[in-house]
This record gives sequence, structure tokens and C-alpha cells, in this order.
Amino acid sequence: MVNQLKAKMVLDKSYEIAKVDERIYGSFIEHLGRAVYGGIYEPGHPEADEQGFRKDVMELVKELQVPIVRYPGGNMVSAYNWEDGVGPKEDRPSRLELAWRTVETNEVGTNEFADWAKKVNTDVMMAVNLGTRGIDAARNLLEYTNHPGGTYWSDLRKSHGYDAPHNIKTWCLGNEMDGPWQVGHKTAHEYGRIAQETAKAMKLVDPTIELVACGSSNTGMPTFPEYEATTLDIAYEQVDYISLHQYYGNRTNDPANYLAKNMDMDHFIKTVTSTCDYIKAKHRSKKTINLSFDEWNVWYHSKDADKEIEPWSIAPPQLEDHYNFEDALLVGSMLITFLQHADRVKMACLAQLVNVIAPIMTENNGRSWKQTIFYPYMHASIYGRGVSLKPILSSPKYDSKDFTDVPYIDSAAVYNEENGEGEVTIFMINKNLEESITVSCDVRSFEGYSLVEHIVLENDDLKAVNTASRQTVAPHGNGSSSLEDGTLEVRLSKTSWNVIRLKKY
Ligand code: AHR
Repeated sequence: MVNQLKAKMVLDKSYEIAKVDERIYGSFIEHLGRAVYGGIYEPGHPEADEQGFRKDVMELVKELQVPIVRYPGGNMVSAYNWEDGVGPKEDRPSRLELAWRTVETNEVGTNEFADWAKKVNTDVMMAVNLGTRGIDAARNLLEYTNHPGGTYWSDLRKSHGYDAPHNIKTWCLGNEMDGPWQVGHKTAHEYGRIAQETAKAMKLVDPTIELVACGSSNTGMPTFPEYEATTLDIAYEQVDYISLHQYYGNRTNDPANYLAKNMDMDHFIKTVTSTCDYIKAKHRSKKTINLSFDEWNVWYHSKDADKEIEPWSIAPPQLEDHYNFEDALLVGSMLITFLQHADRVKMACLAQLVNVIAPIMTENNGRSWKQTIFYPYMHASIYGRGVSLKPILSSPKYDSKDFTDVPYIDSAAVYNEENGEGEVTIFMINKNLEESITVSCDVRSFEGYSLVEHIVLENDDLKAVNTASRQTVAPHGNGSSSLEDGTLEVRLSKTSWNVIRLKKY
């Protein structure tokens, strides 16, 4: 007889990590592939609105309740002239887009994107070009977007039909400047100086903004974490956040090892946090730098296909990963990792949002649909707002190729209590490829709460994908849980994402 796997957990409302900053459920739209053209924007599509934005895509974005969207890049921003994308569309130039070797028509630019963001109830996180350009272009763009009027750039915005400023609060000082692939790549010292001086000028234009400095493009970079340390050593007092980027893949088809990769992300977050705090101590500063994990996802399925794409075409299908069920599990684990670090990770952007390594896919002139990763992202975004609690979990563990002592279960919990009513959501993943695990969870501190629902995302086939015509991987509400005398018994089926919701009325 097989021994049923068991785990124990204690969840107490006093084990607070921090209030979750809802911006950890952010995303990203880059002028890349079909993210903008054929993704959010397709004039002539039967679902296009008066500005050419696809209403079907907007509805899917709204389902995700995305609080902030990074724009316009990504690698693209490092050779982008923002002035090309404003003013009458017929006057906008087509340009060679160097990062992805396509032609950028500039039909969509800053104002249209701000309009789209309003339509889907999200804020814009704007990146400035610190590759081919610098302080001047950045401060002019900020004057254009945020200054009320009476100056050259703010009046130009008005003349373009935007009387009120866009008031964009969050700005990225360039993108992945540590990467040799980046146009205008910089050493940490070069980047630290330009970030510092650009930040200084931008905060003179608008002192209410928040600035994100580039950190490392991934944990494998040879300059990690020295790049962060040097940059912050120079620009500590001028910037507010440091960015982290990380993508994972399963090229060797080793699911046990793949599903453990959020442990690398956990280590990344801890290392960057320590680096920030080391520089804080070195500077005797009172200010704390927090983390903006502004690119994260699974990215590997499309890499070979992308090599075949003809250069200098308009909106080709680049980075179109078709996500399977195991990808959704890892995305869930990464979301859990952010919640576990809610005290320092204040922003995170699932890269990206539509067509390009994205939860939402579209056909040109056709349908739109939800990829597998849509679901954990949506559940976390909707139910993961409140105070992040630290579950004390003793889970059975395993070893994989690159990781030891991997807990089969990942868990995070979020709690809200107001006016006598309360809600607790527990997110759990079972990474065991063969067996279910029963978790006995002590929730005695949540007196008067009852079980509302147990949502599960599961599939016997780790490689199952969704298509425009079939949602093979979709959640159901028939999870097996019970709550009695302060003990919540949860059955986590093998390889499953679980959302358990308790409520006090
Ligand atoms: O999101 C795709 C690309 O990944 C971004 O343009 C870049 O910043 C990162 O390398």
C-alpha cells in the first residue's frame, strides 16, 4: 500500500509579512512582435473601437485586473525616439527597430497607450531610453506627459489633443543596461552615473514620480550582483527601486527540476534585497530601496521559431510561446514567491501581456483566448490583495538536478479584515508529479470563518495547451477541502494549483 503524503501548516493572522502592493500583479506591453499591432491594437478588426483598440482583448485584460503596465520596452526602448510616436499619425515616421529587427510604424505611441491604459483601468509604468539617448530626451518626455501646460513640451501635448497631463507616476531608467545585447549597453559605473543624473533632472521636472533603476537582466549575468551594488552606490539617493528580470524554461524536459525554479527566483530576491541593504548601511541612509521585478515569466518555447523570422517586417509573430500546464504551475509558484517577499517586492510585471510571451493570445483579424498561465495570474491578482501572511509549512521535499530540499508544496496566504468582515485566501501548489498530498492546516486564529471555495487548476498532461478553439487547461471549483474546529483539511491533487478561500460574514 502506498503511504498517503501528508503536510502540516499553521496560518495565523498575526504572522504578517507586509501589505501586498497590488502593483506586483503588473504586466508589460512592448513594441515587439504582435503585442501592440495585432494584439491590443488592430484597426479594422470587427472588435476594434473608435481608436483601433481591440475590445475583446480589453475585456480579457480587465478580467486580469492588471494594476500597472510597463511600456514601451523592453529592449526596444533603448533605441526608441518617443517623439516619433506623438502628433498626427500621418506625420509619424517608420523606423528600423533595432532590438527585434523589425519596422516600427509608430502608429501607436505615448498618448494612445495612455488612452488604452485608461480603458482597461490600469496605470502606465513608462521606460525612458538610456541606450541611444539620455537626460534630455527623458526630461522632455516627462514634461510632455506630466506638466500641466505653459511650456514647450506640455503645450505640444495639448496641441496633440491631450489637454490634461497623463500624470505617469512610475518610470524605469532604461532597460537591462547590463546586457551586451542592449543598444547602448553600459558598464555599471557608466549606467550608475547616467541613471543618477537622469533621475536628478526628472525629479526636478516632477518630484512626485518614482524611479526604477536597472539591476541585472538575470541571475546568470557575470556582473550580478555587482551591477546592482555599483549602480546603487552611485544613485542610491536619487532612485526608489531596483529592477530584477528573470525568465525560466524547461528545455531539457525535466519537470521536477523545472517546477523548482522559483527557488532560484527566491534566491535572486534575497540577494538583491541584501545588496540594497548593504549600500543603505554603507551610505548611512535612512531610505530603503525596494524591488521592482518588472520582467518575469516562462520563455523558451518560441526561441527556435524566432530564428526563422525575416528581418524588417512589421509586427511579425515573435516570442509567441504557447504555454502548457506545467508552465502555469511554475508561474503560480513565482506569484507565490512574490507574496512571500511582499515586504520588499513592491512591483512585478508579468512579461508580457498580449501575444508576446503572454497570457492572452490573438489571431490577426480573428479570435482571442486565454493561455494556461492566464489562470494563476488572474487568481493571484483578484484574490491576492491584502496582507501577506507567512504560512508555517512542513512539507515533504525532493531533490532535483539543480535544487536540493525542494518542498513539494509552495504556499502563500493573503488576509483582509474590515468592518467585522474578513477574507483569507490560501494559494498552494503541489509539485509532486505522481501523488496527491493532504495538508492539515491550523487556522484557529480565523474564528468565525467558513470555507467559500477551493479552486483547482489541474491536468493529467503536463504538456496540455490551450488554443483559440479549446480551453483544455481551465480551473474548476471542485477542490476537496473541509473546515472543522479550526482545522482546514485540503487535498492537493498531484501537480495542481489551488486557491482556497475562507470568509467571515
Ligand atoms: O520581454 C522580452 C525581452 O526580454 C525584453 O525586451 C527585454 O527587456 C528582456 O530581455
